[in-house]
Amino acid sequence: MREMAGKLIDAIKDKGECEFIRAFGEQMPVRIFLELMGMADDDLEKFRNWADMIVHDRARRGQAMREVKAFLEEQIAEHRANPRPGTLVSDVIDFKADDRPFTDEEVMGTVFLLFIGGLDTVVSSLTFHFRYLAEHPEAQKLLREDPAKIPDAVEELFRAFPVVTTGRIVSADTDIFGVTMKKGDMVAGSTLLSTSDPEEFENPEKIDLGRSPNRHNAFSFGPHRCLGSHLARREIQVAIDEWLKRIPEFSVEPGFEPETLGGGVMGMKELRLVWAPRQDRVPRAG
Ligand code: HEM
Repeated sequence: MREMAGKLIDAIKDKGECEFIRAFGEQMPVRIFLELMGMADDDLEKFRNWADMIVHDRARRGQAMREVKAFLEEQIAEHRANPRPGTLVSDVIDFKADDRPFTDEEVMGTVFLLFIGGLDTVVSSLTFHFRYLAEHPEAQKLLREDPAKIPDAVEELFRAFPVVTTGRIVSADTDIFGVTMKKGDMVAGSTLLSTSDPEEFENPEKIDLGRSPNRHNAFSFGPHRCLGSHLARREIQVAIDEWLKRIPEFSVEPGFEPETLGGGVMGMKELRLVWAPRQDRVPRAG
């Protein structure tokens, strides 16, 4: 992870500016994830487009789902023919549920969920976290001077900018706090609301990078708790650490207004960042 993040940042650090998502935000997590899955990264753009269509574009969601399914069917067949233990696709094929092998449908369902869960969520989280840092030079300074504070800071940024809204289907007629829900209704569980609950978090509207305890549920909880949370945490911690080591104080490009995207996974269209390129930096005294 460190090597990949370092290479991507080295490629832009002397430019003094970047569109964060294209230059870094989507490159690092998607490349790492494809490697874990045992997939080639030469079709990075295609993967990103699919993820974008499925998560943010209702009209083209069906088409993208069919294309992804066809692609994953090929991948699964390839891994069945030439197993590569230690990659996620081969390992899912080998999974057992109560001592019976996964059915073809279960293999496809699991690989699909891993594929779609890992592509967009980390990109979006990284983008919100970096926007916050770009708008708060004092936070950059704090973490640059003491990188040991990065893990707690990342937890607080997960709490402040949880990107996933979970969905559930009501299984029986019920009444919760006076709201009637009928069997079959769809319910959205907003992680943004629950991570702002004043009964759980003191001054929830304030971002406190050292907040402790911090029992946020940006990764949900219960049996469907995010399977990729440890990977996502690690990626974002490493990304911030490696970025702050290489890039001087950075900010959002003056006049640029980031446009955010709603839906099941919140996101941002673009994030334009600027910093002083190497030749413009004031030389250090001595
Ligand atoms: C910051 C990044 C991420 C966030 C905020 C996030 C958030 C979530 C949330 C809230 C859920 C629960 C959904 C529900 O209850 O309906 C979930 C489930 C899941 N996530 Fe993530 N996720 C992230 C990254 C990842 C990554 C990197 C992977 C894959 C490696 C992943 C794989 C999954 C899977 C497979 C599930 C479904 C678990 C199940 O239903 O049993 N996620 N995620």
